[in-house]
Amino acid sequence: MSQWLTLSRAARLIGVPRGELQREIREGRLPANDGMVSTAGLLALYPRLSLEESGAFERVARVKEEAFGRRVLERALPGREVLAQRLFEQSQELADARRHLSRYHDLVVALHQRIDASAQATEAPATLADLRSFLERGLADVLATETVDPLAIMDDMLKVVSSHVTVRPSGREFFVEGRDTLLQAGLKAGLKLNYGCGNGTCGLCKARVVAGQVTKVAPHDYPLSDAERLQGHVLLCVHGAASSEIVLESLEAAGPGDIPEQQIAVRVRSVKPLGVDTLHVHLQTPRTMRLRFLAGQSATLSAAAGGREAHGTYAIASCPCDERNLHFHVPRADTDPFAALLFDGALTVNATVNLSGPVGDFVFWESERRLAFLACDTGFAPIKSLIEHAMAVDAAESIALGWLATRVDGHYLANQCRAWAEAFDQFRYVPVSDPDPAAGASALVATMEAVRPLAACDVYVAGPAPFVAAATAALAAAGVPAGQTYAAIA
Ligand code: FES
Repeated sequence: MSQWLTLSRAARLIGVPRGELQREIREGRLPANDGMVSTAGLLALYPRLSLEESGAFERVARVKEEAFGRRVLERALPGREVLAQRLFEQSQELADARRHLSRYHDLVVALHQRIDASAQATEAPATLADLRSFLERGLADVLATETVDPLAIMDDMLKVVSSHVTVRPSGREFFVEGRDTLLQAGLKAGLKLNYGCGNGTCGLCKARVVAGQVTKVAPHDYPLSDAERLQGHVLLCVHGAASSEIVLESLEAAGPGDIPEQQIAVRVRSVKPLGVDTLHVHLQTPRTMRLRFLAGQSATLSAAAGGREAHGTYAIASCPCDERNLHFHVPRADTDPFAALLFDGALTVNATVNLSGPVGDFVFWESERRLAFLACDTGFAPIKSLIEHAMAVDAAESIALGWLATRVDGHYLANQCRAWAEAFDQFRYVPVSDPDPAAGASALVATMEAVRPLAACDVYVAGPAPFVAAATAALAAAGVPAGQTYAAIA
């Protein structure tokens, strides 16, 4: 019998982005009901997943099973206790199903006997004979046509190795894999959950468990009151998922206004050249403090070294899903004393940098539209953060990235862009070089338009002011509504 699955779960089973399934639903090839799709519908659309008994199908099925097995193995298994708890839950479900089946079987046998007995006693045996043959035909049909549903089998296996979490009231979903806490898994999936310390001290990640079981994976100092415990409140940063389905009640940030400004003393982990005029700076927060920010936002860095004090504001180039490791692309500029400290080698590994932020409202806004990103030089930093976030939340069925290089450093992370394009079928990368940011912006928009009609996209633009001005004007001329363009000078 077919099972109904949420889109996220179905996408994981098939191994395709959620956006692909959304497109199939929109174009009428995959029936959906109340946001759910059936395993039968999925098998009709992806017939190579069938486990039918033909030799060819068996080969495909084996390959698919191996691919599925690899997907499972690629993710670390949860801890032994969690695994045992989920297996116990699964076994309980199986035992319940068996008990019910056995009762239905007894009922059918009893019905059969009753029909036989009545047929001998009644004066209208023909009707009862009809009923008897109807029952026999029905049972024969069930036994003859009931085939194995491979997706249901895979789904059962996924329920053991990972847990599916739904967050209310937003309705967002994520999966907890390996030994991740609920907070880590939610952040990896791009949710804007509330949190602070990440280690059970501040209480900001408090959420209510509405359904399912969670398990404490680390001690915590923050005291939950008895009333809170009774209502099911837990700290997401020190709890993992024990059952395969969990429903949480938790507030999420709606936009930059919901993220408080934070001051954190961070350490320099590395400073490496990305080109002659661009440095990659990796900063790390202490274990007890993490920077909560949204993809695309910036932070102000200040430091003192060699008798010089300096500060500068830079876009964070990494995904908010890793809130301890913060990456920046700092360009050489005569007017930037903080960059001078870095280029002069005054800030070395383990130096302390004071970080304050996040700042800026150049963030990701969810919509059903395709995504296009236009970057110029180190404007690539916030764009990279946005793309990583968009991929984490499986936000769009297709992404196009255009990157204009005006400096000698060129497309200093071209490998990263090519890796995205190779990993995702629906990712297009368009590199353009031009020393003039304004002329280059027009050329970039024209090239991107030829690749993908931009009026149907949400377009994010980041780079120096002349680039942003020329790109937004070119986008407007190309018919992109102003409400679909988000721009930042970076
Ligand atoms: S208690 Fe601070 S983030 Fe969980």
